[in-house]
Amino acid sequence: MTKDIYILGIETSCDETAAAIVRNGTETVANVVASQIASHQRFGGVVPEIASRHHVEQITLVLEEVFHEAQLDWDEIDAIAVTKGPGLVGALLVGVNAAKALAFARQKPLIGVHHIAGHIYANRLEKEFQFPLLALIVSGGHTELVLMTEHGKYELIGETRDDAAGEAYDKVARMLKLPYPGGPEIDRLAARGEEIISFPRAWLEDGSYDFSFSGLKSAVINKMHNVQQRGETLKPEDIAASFQASVVEVLTEKTYRAAREHQVQQVIVAGGVAANRGLRKKLDERFAGTDIPLLIPPLELCTDNAAMIAAAGTISYGQGKRAGLDLNANASLLLN
Ligand code: KG4
Ligand code: ZN
Repeated sequence: MTKDIYILGIETSCDETAAAIVRNGTETVANVVASQIASHQRFGGVVPEIASRHHVEQITLVLEEVFHEAQLDWDEIDAIAVTKGPGLVGALLVGVNAAKALAFARQKPLIGVHHIAGHIYANRLEKEFQFPLLALIVSGGHTELVLMTEHGKYELIGETRDDAAGEAYDKVARMLKLPYPGGPEIDRLAARGEEIISFPRAWLEDGSYDFSFSGLKSAVINKMHNVQQRGETLKPEDIAASFQASVVEVLTEKTYRAAREHQVQQVIVAGGVAANRGLRKKLDERFAGTDIPLLIPPLELCTDNAAMIAAAGTISYGQGKRAGLDLNANASLLLN
């Protein structure tokens, strides 16, 4: 029998301080997330300096908690995986330095993980991957379509040319005077509204799998101004429903077309916006009755966590990839 592999994951790229222990890349043993959302809410978004300070305060506590929850000793940990980018550089540095200090003190191998690889591998904690696989990553910082033909190999086939999907949600939410993070707020409003405004769909050039959300954002602003100038009113729930319909239709259609063109065996969805009920429903409908299985992880694995970093790190560990103690954070790290 082969020995179980236990990887400790650490994630501090944005506003969650997280640590997790994962067995064999597929089973979560313990998963601790300390969210800072409440501290950033009054500023209407994440304040990088505040994020870094919170990470410094939380990281040791979160690490203690994860070992307590897992009921494991350091002896049983095979390696430490940490998010090395992309993200807020000051925030990333807290996790990277904690991981380096622990790797040195405990004499454990160190592995640097790309945050998006982490989001993708959150899905493997639910179900084994089938290649070729298409991943739709939709978060506050990313909107990407990634094709994978094997573990640890990522081909970017589409990405946003301006705002990320979550960013568009947050900006439109701010116009509607909703609290941060705006995505879940718009999602709730949209469920009660009707799609009575026909906002543009950014399909871009024929065959492109890239995305663009800034035009849609401007269309929402213009519509709100026009209505205001005419002394009319629009229900926020109808604006939310119409905005969401545009985002969701483009994300779903491009994912579907890419899945067909590349004849994938599996489609997975990852990132905070994967929590969106409208998107989940539309994707479910689009892939129902096709021969392509669609996998959307539970909400707690969609948003930032360290189990996903440990899961992705397990693959690098198996492939013999190691980072040195000179590992550095890279705010704009590329996936491939
Ligand atoms: O993946 P994530 O937790 O952090 C990043 O790596 O960015 O994603 C956060 C983003 C935020 O923009 C938030 O508004 C959005 O995900 N989000 C949602 C929903 N839940 C979170 N957007 C739309 N609908 C939701 N239900
Ligand atoms: Zn993320």
